[in-house]
Amino acid sequence: MAGYLDRIGAGKILRDPEPLSFDYLPEELVGRDSELNTLAAIFQQIDDPRVSCRVAITGNVGSGKTTLSHIFARDLQRHLSGKRSIKSVYVNCRNHPSKSQVLQRIVTSLDAGHPERGFGSGEILQSIRKQAHNSKEHILLILDEVDHLLRADKGDLLYQLLRIDEGREETGTMSLMIVSQEHVLDSLEGAVISRFGQNNHLRMDRYESSALTEIARQRADLACVEGSVSEEVLKMIGERASETADARVVIELLESAVKGAEVSGRVEVRPEDVRFHGRNIGRTVEPSIVDNLGLHAQMVLLALCRRLRKAAEVTTGDAEKLYHVVCEEYEEAPRSHTTFWKHLKTLERLELIEARTGSKSEGRGRTQFLSMPSALPGTMEKRVENALSNH
Ligand SMILES: Nc1ncnc2c1ncn2[C@@H]1O[C@H](COP(=O)(O)OP(=O)(O)OP(=O)(O)O)[C@@H](O)[C@H]1O
Ligand SMILES: [Mg+2]
Repeated sequence: MAGYLDRIGAGKILRDPEPLSFDYLPEELVGRDSELNTLAAIFQQIDDPRVSCRVAITGNVGSGKTTLSHIFARDLQRHLSGKRSIKSVYVNCRNHPSKSQVLQRIVTSLDAGHPERGFGSGEILQSIRKQAHNSKEHILLILDEVDHLLRADKGDLLYQLLRIDEGREETGTMSLMIVSQEHVLDSLEGAVISRFGQNNHLRMDRYESSALTEIARQRADLACVEGSVSEEVLKMIGERASETADARVVIELLESAVKGAEVSGRVEVRPEDVRFHGRNIGRTVEPSIVDNLGLHAQMVLLALCRRLRKAAEVTTGDAEKLYHVVCEEYEEAPRSHTTFWKHLKTLERLELIEARTGSKSEGRGRTQFLSMPSALPGTMEKRVENALSNH
């Protein structure tokens, strides 16, 4: 009689969920060989201990910029092992937008015990140089989402980093990779990036649907039982995702399709599973819709995304609690219950969420259940976080 429990833990399709997480670093970046070759050409002389290199990488959302920078740093380290020791330091400037935060991240990655406070930027740079030369390590600094630093700091730190060896005997302290979505750069920030020089600017093209299909294939091969995801399904995912050209959409569509098929107890994913969530999964939600929302509406939406990544629905009561958690994270005082409702209505009107009234099993009255049938919560979450950091 307990046969109905058989499917639990059976993993009929999913072998390993890890490759379906956005943070998973794949061994290979699918279809980006020419970009990797360009990077290698820019870093051609990096085996010489006196040399530092620099590159600016730009491209649209989900074009693989962050992953490319990680993979290149990893491959370079392996390639030069025994010749030149590379210490890569990754800083996401969205989370660390100020000059002092960035410097602190660099210095503590070289020396975990470096004191937090009490030094000016000149002194910290000096100590970074010393540490690097003492340990005979070349620093490869990756400043991701660098537009946040440029906005906060007007490029000041970047100039200091570029000139770190100026007037010194020793050279080759630090190479720089700066990374940004191109459309978020305004003219000032664009000008700072163009200082790197045309030849050191790598633009990542948008993914076509065929490239997105190949990314879907990579993740399906890594995560799923052989033969469980057909060519037709992979193609469909590539086509759906090509509206945004965002590789995260590929991963999320695949994940939700796999889950849908597993819930139905099947051993293979069918094309209709790609539409599992509803009508328009993966439709383009214009970034401007999210950007134009007010601060608190964005925080409500973020709260919803976080829950709806894992659950199909959330009650309004839970949503309000989750909104309070987001407010705490962004150090904002939550708005009243009535205002919270008003924001929910706005999100509903914009078709970002849908509400249905259902009866609650315990307690009195009816409760509302919220879902996100027309967008991908994980992709949306990332977009809202981007928008929130611009306030
Ligand atoms: N060519 C690729 N091959 C395999 N996986 C990829 C590829 N491009 C992107 N991905 C995957 O898609 C997701 C998004 O990629 P990534 O974070 O590098 O994009 P991004 O350009 O940095 O986006 P954003 O502009 O939002 O910062 C990651 O999980 C990454 O592993
Ligand atoms: Mg990125």
